[in-house]
Amino acid sequence: MAGAAVEVNGVSRLFKLGAEEVWAVRDVTIAVQPGEFLALTGRSGSGKTTLLNLIAGLDRPTEGQILIDGARVDTMGEGDLNKLRRTKLGFIFQSFGLLPLLSAQENVELPLRIAGFRNAERSRRAREALSLVGLGRRAHHRPYELSGGEQQRVAIARAMATSPDLLLADEPTGELDSATATAVFDLLREIARGEGVTIITCTHDRLVMELADRVEELADGRLLSHEQQHIWGRHQESERGPFRAALPSTGEGAGLSSLVGADTSQFGPAALAAEREEAAKARPSEPAATSDPEETAESAGAGDDPARWARPR
Ligand SMILES: Nc1ncnc2c1ncn2[C@@H]1O[C@H](COP(=O)(O)OP(=O)(O)OP(=O)(O)O)[C@@H](O)[C@H]1O
Ligand SMILES: [Mg+2]
Repeated sequence: MAGAAVEVNGVSRLFKLGAEEVWAVRDVTIAVQPGEFLALTGRSGSGKTTLLNLIAGLDRPTEGQILIDGARVDTMGEGDLNKLRRTKLGFIFQSFGLLPLLSAQENVELPLRIAGFRNAERSRRAREALSLVGLGRRAHHRPYELSGGEQQRVAIARAMATSPDLLLADEPTGELDSATATAVFDLLREIARGEGVTIITCTHDRLVMELADRVEELADGRLLSHEQQHIWGRHQESERGPFRAALPSTGEGAGLSSLVGADTSQFGPAALAAEREEAAKARPSEPAATSDPEETAESAGAGDDPARWARPR
């Protein structure tokens, strides 16, 4: 299944605070292709969160149109918006938005519950999503029993659990060290590529921008023109020159994580497979899985293929 296409046409958002007027977003036009990984960057207050909220239908533009797979989000009624959020959208908030009294597992299960998944499927998907972000063993911890970075990873797992077509992420790695942030985004990109999921994320992280297919910069609510972006790009190039040169050349972006020292074995399909293996060892009295050839094929392949995890329908 393909990712969602997003069109933002001449969108502006005016906030009025008493006599003061703030144009948080001004006449922004962007087209995002299905499966594209777009990074939105810009200084604090440049309008990134406002734009992301507009795309998610959490807020309405003052001017302009927003379309997801051809459907107008800016004029959509609440019922259809809810359906869209249940079925197509995953959102990772700047402040994780975890419910403090629920465990990590229960937090991840929440959107699945809302989307109507049954108990067993809900629990399986939540566990797998947590394992993918390296938190399989923390499933029963409450947010206050987790570090800031771990909470952020729970929020990522929660957004991915429903296998969305469009993942909107507002600074999803702001609390993570650069190495972990890169590993998490490496994983997101891997899933995005395997599944064709469209990702739009706000970020200040240079390494995340390196992983994105495209970077757009907002300044004072406006999208920088292509010429300005070109200048920006050259500026970035010159700043990152030595860094780029140090990147191993095998495979696109291949060496990023190793370069910054992230232990990616903690994340992703390999970690999931390892965890399943361990879980299987812990249950030796269960009937041998090998007695069922179909079951064996299932469990053997499952850990290697992110697509299989992300969309097991
Ligand atoms: N609900 C609101 N009411 C009034 N002004 C707002 C509101 N939300 C945002 N703004 C203003 O709009 C501008 C853009 O804010 P926004 O949160 O989109 O910035 P941002 O790029 O996400 O910044 P940061 O990197 O700090 O998260 C800011 O000047 C902010 O003060
Ligand atoms: Mg913001």
